[in-house]
Amino acid sequence: MTQRRDFKGVGIIGTGSYVPEKVITNFDLEKIVETSDEWIRARTGIKERRILDTDKGSSFMAIEAAKKALENAKISPEDIDMIIVATVTPDMMFPSTACLVQESLKCKNAAAFDLEAACSGFLYGLSVAYSFVSSGIYKNILLIGADALSRITDWTDRNTCVLFGDGAGAAIISEVPEGKGVLGLDLGADGEGKNLLKLVAGGSLMPATEKTVKNRLHYIYMEGNEVFKFAVRKMEEISLKIIEKSKLKLEDIDYLVPHQANMRIIESARKKLKLAENKVYVNLEDYGNMSSASIPVALDEAVRKNKIKDNDVILLIGFGGGLTWGAMVIRWYSKGRF
Ligand code: UT7
Repeated sequence: MTQRRDFKGVGIIGTGSYVPEKVITNFDLEKIVETSDEWIRARTGIKERRILDTDKGSSFMAIEAAKKALENAKISPEDIDMIIVATVTPDMMFPSTACLVQESLKCKNAAAFDLEAACSGFLYGLSVAYSFVSSGIYKNILLIGADALSRITDWTDRNTCVLFGDGAGAAIISEVPEGKGVLGLDLGADGEGKNLLKLVAGGSLMPATEKTVKNRLHYIYMEGNEVFKFAVRKMEEISLKIIEKSKLKLEDIDYLVPHQANMRIIESARKKLKLAENKVYVNLEDYGNMSSASIPVALDEAVRKNKIKDNDVILLIGFGGGLTWGAMVIRWYSKGRF
């Protein structure tokens, strides 16, 4: 372990993302459950989602996203000290998906572990990475949010199957010049909401049996309306809290990259922040909710499309099962890239 360095800032020095090629549209879903393109678009904003080929796991998407992030950050796999994969759909119970990424990318010097905070996973991971780099213990951390929710979606349940998609997004967290990087972060959880969004079977409490499979307990269960109300309240609340905690004002926020679960939830946060429509990145219509991958895929796309520029103050906010939530404010550093 090294001593705390007299470092400057801690931020993101590279991003990457991957979504599978296979597309399932709302019209495709109309053929398998009683729903309509009109209902899905009006209630959620989603038009289509990507689905991972059945012979692949989340690690495949994680590796593809990570390759692009390494390239973007212009660092080699040997320079990575730690790999964190935020996921609720690991390839298997163990070894961790992070270890599969480590082996594939030949990140020989990296510690590796998975982190589970559902849709808030990427923000939880960013906070862990930030802490390791700012303490001086590690220099470069590869963080990936990767989820193949199609694997745990009940395709006979119209309440949930219209919402989710597969994908992965990655970021390299490292030192950045003084004044740049993370300006503030805030995480939270409320286990009292544990029953609102869950997948109960396959763990130590209820291992897989014929009965659990028959009762469809290996799929996501969600009380959508309750989660919706929580999300609207929490996204607004954490946005204002993190701005205050970071000693900023509403008008200091240049760009919002929210968790992509529902257009109506994103809109309520945008309005609370008094941001123009073009100051929020939304890709929900193309991908649906990709859980821990939603924020990093949106962030990577926003950076590559030049929506986020050097010195912009960006706000990342998310919520998910647990219940969990998180927010981070970053002064963007992009000198020397692209
Ligand atoms: O990352 C975190 C994970 N989850 C979320 O963020 C989800 C948060 N929740 C939501 O986004 C919304 O609650 C949903 C999109 C899931 C549902 O929208 P809603 O406006 O809350 O609708 P609802 O659940 O109150 O359902 C309204 C009606 C119901 O019919 P009745 O009982 O009023 O006759 C549902 O059965 O819509 C029905 N419904 C559907 N109809 C057509 C539910 N799903 C569908 C569907 N197609 N796919």
